[in-house]
Amino acid sequence: MKICFIGTGYVGLVSGVLFSDLGNSVTCVDNNHEKIENLKKGIIPIFEPGLDELVIKNYNAKRLFFTTDINNAIKNSDIIFIAVGTPTAKDGVSADLKNVYAVAQTISKNINKFKIIITKSTVPVCTGDEVEKILRKKNSSSKFEVVSNPEFLREGEAIRDFRYPDRVVIGSNNPKKTIPILKKLYEPITKKGAKFISTSRRSAELIKYAANAFLATKITFINEIANLCEQVGSNVEDIAIGIGTDARIGSRFLRAGPAYGGSCFPKDTKALTKIGKKFKTHMSVVETVIKSNEKRKNNLADKILNILKNPKGKKVGFLGVTFKANTDDMRDTQCLKIFPKLLKKGVKLSYYDPTGEKKELKKIRFIKNTKEILNNNDLVVIHTEWDEFRSLDFKSIKNKGVKIFDMRNLYQPNEFLNKNIKYYSIGRPTNEKKA
Ligand code: UDX
Repeated sequence: MKICFIGTGYVGLVSGVLFSDLGNSVTCVDNNHEKIENLKKGIIPIFEPGLDELVIKNYNAKRLFFTTDINNAIKNSDIIFIAVGTPTAKDGVSADLKNVYAVAQTISKNINKFKIIITKSTVPVCTGDEVEKILRKKNSSSKFEVVSNPEFLREGEAIRDFRYPDRVVIGSNNPKKTIPILKKLYEPITKKGAKFISTSRRSAELIKYAANAFLATKITFINEIANLCEQVGSNVEDIAIGIGTDARIGSRFLRAGPAYGGSCFPKDTKALTKIGKKFKTHMSVVETVIKSNEKRKNNLADKILNILKNPKGKKVGFLGVTFKANTDDMRDTQCLKIFPKLLKKGVKLSYYDPTGEKKELKKIRFIKNTKEILNNNDLVVIHTEWDEFRSLDFKSIKNKGVKIFDMRNLYQPNEFLNKNIKYYSIGRPTNEKKA
């Protein structure tokens, strides 16, 4: 079975490389010549632990290919995954589908034998219908099937998530023809326990949005409970355990923190409200989640200003600036909304990030190590949950009276009781005694 991935962004590259690692012949296509030439040399455009080694291994084994020649790649493949970006459109809410439709036009010109065309990009419900319409203009419907196969990979965990997903979702309107082929393709994964879920194409498209919106809701819910905990002196982690052990709720994605960010949740929640509007269904829960999440970033900036008391001229150092650990992705990272508010009040900002200096933070000083951040600031904010921030050397801090704001609850408040450090965290009392 010859596979082709169009688009070597996050989803396309990770899935393409991992399908080749399962023994398939995979061609990854991109219109960015430099990116393709770099990939051939094993230089990958994203930060994903372990991915570069897999690129080199499978490229050398000659089952992973990189090319800009989209026409030949399509002609030579049986299964074509569309994995191009669907960013937020100019209106600030909808998903921009121009890349998907442009790829559909190119596929349409190159159908020389039966092909399964799979949308792996996150696309609004009914996009598959549009792709099918484009293909039908030039091709008989017996020559292709358009299928939806949403991706649930998390950045930083993508290799594990690909190999051991909870489920594989395939949405097809002609399951008799497509499901046996795709079951075979995914067999190495489903054999290890992943559930194979076959649905209609529209349902599969909606599953992706519903999953991301539900997870975003879960996070927002626990963040609001954390706010309440701060008012009544309860501990949000106890609440998360207390509710998460109920199998109907589930324990994951109940970590209170600095709002959700990243390339998916903010974009997909907004797109879902837009889809709702299109089909005259008010997505009021998701709308509230978006508002609450936005407000949270403002509230966290206010909390920092309150901790500083007189913020003008005070020095604040951030540990981690990406939206979560194990990624260099700055898209919709929480601090991008927090920093301007602090700068406006005259705060002097600096940051350290394990993935290096960020072009998005031109006005803010990059510091090369955690030690300097710990020693040269009035307040240190732990913004991202990188492992290297879990055992910080607080003993090395010379500045008496330094404050720490741990937005990821990496430490226990009572660890700081007898230190010259004032510690703040999310949704937990500062001096709780635990058995
Ligand atoms: C998400 C989905 O998890 C994945 O299935 C989908 O394919 C793409 O979008 P990703 O954006 O990589 O993945 O990050 P994820 O690990 O889900 O975290 C998203 C945001 O939520 C981050 O800002 C993270 O810090 C935050 N988060 C996550 C919390 O604040 N608390 C949690 O308990 C979990």
